[in-house]
Amino acid sequence: MGSIYRFATPSYLLLLFLLVGTVFEPSFAALVKQQPLVLKYHNGALLKGEITVNLIWYGHFTPAQRSIIVDFIQSLSSAASPTPSAASWWRTTSKYKGGASTLIVGKQVLVENYSLGKSLKNVHIAALASKGGLLNAVNIVLTAKDVVVDGFCMSRCGTHRSTPGKNRVPYAWVGNSETQCPGQCAWPFHQPIYGPQTPPLVAPNGDVGVDGMVITLATVLAGAVTNPFNNGYFQGPATAPLEAVSACPGMFGSGSYPGYPGQVLVDKATGASYNAHGVNGRKYLLPAMWDPQTSACFTLV
Ligand SMILES: *[C@@H]1O[C@H](CO)[C@@H](O)[C@H](O)[C@H]1NC(C)=O
Repeated sequence: MGSIYRFATPSYLLLLFLLVGTVFEPSFAALVKQQPLVLKYHNGALLKGEITVNLIWYGHFTPAQRSIIVDFIQSLSSAASPTPSAASWWRTTSKYKGGASTLIVGKQVLVENYSLGKSLKNVHIAALASKGGLLNAVNIVLTAKDVVVDGFCMSRCGTHRSTPGKNRVPYAWVGNSETQCPGQCAWPFHQPIYGPQTPPLVAPNGDVGVDGMVITLATVLAGAVTNPFNNGYFQGPATAPLEAVSACPGMFGSGSYPGYPGQVLVDKATGASYNAHGVNGRKYLLPAMWDPQTSACFTLV
């Protein structure tokens, strides 16, 4: 299980954050980043080889919104995009024991009738996830902006878990925070509620909520392949693990520190911030990922 909260800061960062408050010194951040970060491997299975990603859309999403997400998943295993590419970001997961994980978009289920209501609990997410396939798959439930989910915005922006029992199937949930808590779950495309304030970045696909979902999706996908069953790579307690991306919170480019995402690329025509190219000419802003070879958080730019 991994709960993904954009400001889920490691305790040492949190401590500094509290001590320094709103006038955080970049030099302190540099000191903090030099501490080696180790995600211990707990000898469990990881997801490797070809993995089907099934998408269960719950509530109203426009076709344009769905294509931002589908293109993102396809970008992770595509060789076609210019550098820095989303695929080179994803390749960091192949440095974790066991080789590459190739993601293939499988079936998409649209649940546009809100058949489980607009306020979902974990059991509802599990039920929706079971609508995807079961073999070598990760089923992802994406909830629309008008859907409230237990813990959404309060402690998390998305999660990944696995089904109980013998043949455990990993699944994940990511919510659109646009109208509920964009300052938490769509940062840095929206002003944060807490902490140091830097101006929001322009979302690379022009959709604050869905571009925020891409960041959370990137986080849960990396967590799902490197710690699918709570005995893969993580730091801290298994009940609240810091995983591949959640161990590197709030970092998108070089020179990041709490509240400042770091220096990223800017599209001259649109002003959009990004750090990765994807398929179909897409641009994405992807979070830092822990690199097991260097024991450090890695950003594309
Ligand atoms: C809602 O939509 C889903 C997916 O299309 C369908 O399986 C289900 O039967 C529908 N439920 C209702 C109550 O209409």
